[in-house]
Amino acid sequence: MTEHAIKLNNLTKKFGDFTAVDNLSLHVEEGEIFGFLGPNGAGKSTTIRMLCTLAQPTSGSALVSGYDLVEDSAKVRKEIGLVAEKMIMYDTLTAAENLRFFGKLYDMPKEKIELRIDELLELVDMQEWKNTQINKFSTGMKQRINVIRALLPEPKILFMDEPTLGLDPQTTFSIREIIRNINNNGVTVILTTHAMTEAEALSDRVAIIDHGKIAALDTPENLKNMLVNSDITIFTMKIMNLSSKLIEQLKTLKIVTAIAQQDDHHIKISATGKDALNQIIDKIRLEGGDIFSIVNSNESTLEDVFLTVTGKEMRDQATEKPAPVQHGHAPKARVR
Ligand SMILES: Nc1ncnc2c1ncn2[C@@H]1O[C@H](COP(=O)(O)OP(=O)(O)OP(=O)(O)O)[C@@H](O)[C@H]1O
Ligand SMILES: [Mg+2]
Repeated sequence: MTEHAIKLNNLTKKFGDFTAVDNLSLHVEEGEIFGFLGPNGAGKSTTIRMLCTLAQPTSGSALVSGYDLVEDSAKVRKEIGLVAEKMIMYDTLTAAENLRFFGKLYDMPKEKIELRIDELLELVDMQEWKNTQINKFSTGMKQRINVIRALLPEPKILFMDEPTLGLDPQTTFSIREIIRNINNNGVTVILTTHAMTEAEALSDRVAIIDHGKIAALDTPENLKNMLVNSDITIFTMKIMNLSSKLIEQLKTLKIVTAIAQQDDHHIKISATGKDALNQIIDKIRLEGGDIFSIVNSNESTLEDVFLTVTGKEMRDQATEKPAPVQHGHAPKARVR
């Protein structure tokens, strides 16, 4: 019995001169759902790959279930399951055939595999599809099989790299329910996402990472309260003649901590102090800006936290919008 499911100690990964994961130190408690939240390229997948022994750390170390990643990698592998970024599935095989194939890879005894397949199909409500070919499935159904594939050998820790990416809202909802069920069965879950709502809905604690570093780490609740209890205000402005020059001018104000441009007319500003709004309005007028509206939200979101701690907006907002549903097939993964 170990105290922490996972413990990272200055875990670092470099690709040449580029540091993808930069001295990450954190721990994940047993039984937790831990969210890794960050924009494209933040280093989420690289961290997961190291923790799953698929990539070697450049420096630093980590313990998974008490075993060292590098020295005890075989033992680490016995403790974990991975739902990777890309689905791995044979289209011409049935659900059960796919699961059997992977069960054999995991070196599980035959009878155990059959028992486990039935158990897991029930967990994701797919019993009636057991002997149907995967290519007849919707993306959501495939993802359910993809998820339980990782659970076959009964891992204590499950890594999920963007488990709902590209799924429509309804399917996303059902996958989240499944993640909760898995966790309720005692499995520690580490999940990466760049969807704020996902991190918020599922995680006991969230690490916001950017450029391979932790920008903030706490419960979603505490992260949001961090702003409520500070003198930071965040508001969205619609400016008819918004220009990059105007944004640069606003950034020169001392009270402005971050500005994110949302579209041709909207900016989101994070600023400190009681007089912040007045100063900003004065500045915009001085620069000839035409303010159409100002919305001051008194309920802060994880997105606001991200803006405040990193000074910028999550770069990939597209995935927060519901994906179009086309005959049960979700769009392909995003392009970087
Ligand atoms: N094998 C590699 N060789 C060189 N650079 C890499 C390699 N793998 C990842 N990187 C770089 O490391 C950085 C972190 O990548 P990573 O895939 O971990 O990001 P991520 O947070 O998972 O992003 P996303 O949200 O797009 O999945 C990126 O800049 C990426 O281009
Ligand atoms: Mg990734």
